[in-house]
Amino acid sequence: MKECVFQRCIIPQCRATMDVSETAFRCPRCGNLLDVDYEWDRLPLPRSLAEWENTWSQRSHPLNFSGVWRFRALFPFAPENQVVTIGEGQTLCLRSDAVAAYVGLRPGRLFLQYEGLNPSGSFKDNGMTAAFTHARLTGASRAACASTGNTSASLALYCAASGQMRGIIFIGSGKISYGKLSQALEHGALTIQIAGDFDDALRRVQDVSRQLGIYLVNSINPFRLEGQKTIMYRVLEALRWQPPDWIVVPGGNLGNVSSFGKAFAELYQLGLLRQLPRLAVINAAGANTFYELYEHRGLRWNGGQYDDNLITGYMRELDVNQRRADTLASAIEINRPVNLPKALRALEICGGVVREVTDQEILDAKAQVGAGGLGCEPASAASVAGLRRLVTEGIIQPEETVVCILTGHVLKDPDATVAYHSDDRNLFDQKLGRRGVRRATYANRAVQVPNDLAEIIKAIELYA
Ligand code: F0G
Repeated sequence: MKECVFQRCIIPQCRATMDVSETAFRCPRCGNLLDVDYEWDRLPLPRSLAEWENTWSQRSHPLNFSGVWRFRALFPFAPENQVVTIGEGQTLCLRSDAVAAYVGLRPGRLFLQYEGLNPSGSFKDNGMTAAFTHARLTGASRAACASTGNTSASLALYCAASGQMRGIIFIGSGKISYGKLSQALEHGALTIQIAGDFDDALRRVQDVSRQLGIYLVNSINPFRLEGQKTIMYRVLEALRWQPPDWIVVPGGNLGNVSSFGKAFAELYQLGLLRQLPRLAVINAAGANTFYELYEHRGLRWNGGQYDDNLITGYMRELDVNQRRADTLASAIEINRPVNLPKALRALEICGGVVREVTDQEILDAKAQVGAGGLGCEPASAASVAGLRRLVTEGIIQPEETVVCILTGHVLKDPDATVAYHSDDRNLFDQKLGRRGVRRATYANRAVQVPNDLAEIIKAIELYA
């Protein structure tokens, strides 16, 4: 198997290849990002996508139980006895007519892919199981990441559960929600809070990993993105192997959109899918680098010859104006997305668009998702808020089929939720008001009653 898999530079004009055991995750020739690539014609492939439903039924086999590894024929980089899995990917794609009504889609047209059901509560586990497996193949004993919280929670969990690796996480001071910080601490990762934000932490962790030979699990790691492809396989499965018209995903470091684009490109190339969905990436307005570059400055993949000057010029402007990412959706509070070139490639393959949404729109959409029966964190709700905008703009039609990815669980960031629903004005102002949130449009206020039976009954009769 090993000779059928390698790492390859994403730039078509370079295409340098590297051995599967390399862990620098940068092209040694041109410095750009790498893909995991396969010689498909020498590998056993399913005849159709529907074949996976048979593996799904064999739940006593750990690799078939995993919602990631049951699709391993589409990312065959590791021998089965080396796989590190903790049963990730048992997630659901649920029809939501309530949220469809909110965003302006017809009943039956909106599905929410709920990745909060993963062991660490976010989609990151799809990628972490793949990265951990690769780390094990390379003989690594320490793994590191910079994180806005979910990657670090996932890394900490995989280290603790597998007992195979020491986890080292870099987080921006005060930049991570308590739900996520608590996971890193509870699972025993070495937690390094640096005075700075995610963008600073990501630069540092790359330097440190290189210098100390520590295995890096940020989404610059192409093996992580191989695992995240399975989110799309599960979506297709839930939709009976019919691609939706649109996939809508929040954009932070742009790993998800990159892996989704690669998943679809490969399925098309392998003849397993005839038609591709379009991709919509949603930035928070306070962290909107991708939106600015793609929608306003016309940055495109352009067959691999994208205009790097546009990117470096934009980053220089951020520096000169001392502009830092700033959004309540702390998971996507990122101004320097490391997967930018791969995300451009994904949008070219799938015909993509990028939008930005305010924190107000995010929190309102989040409350509507919650009222509709699925709890998600603020960054996840950016997808729903962005979809609502795209329907209003007429880019997405009410009768089109759309899947929004809900990337993380509501319990990841209880502070944001409580502040939104609270009638404590100080709490609201302190947490949300300073970010430009003016009102809690769909607040569900707690009712204050004296400890008195008659008063309690009166309150219930009044409100329920
Ligand atoms: N949603 C959630 C809940 C996230 O945690 C992240 C990223 C994203 C969306 C954005 O995904 O990077 O693939 O575009 N969180 C990273 C972290 C950065 O450190 O946990 P992306």
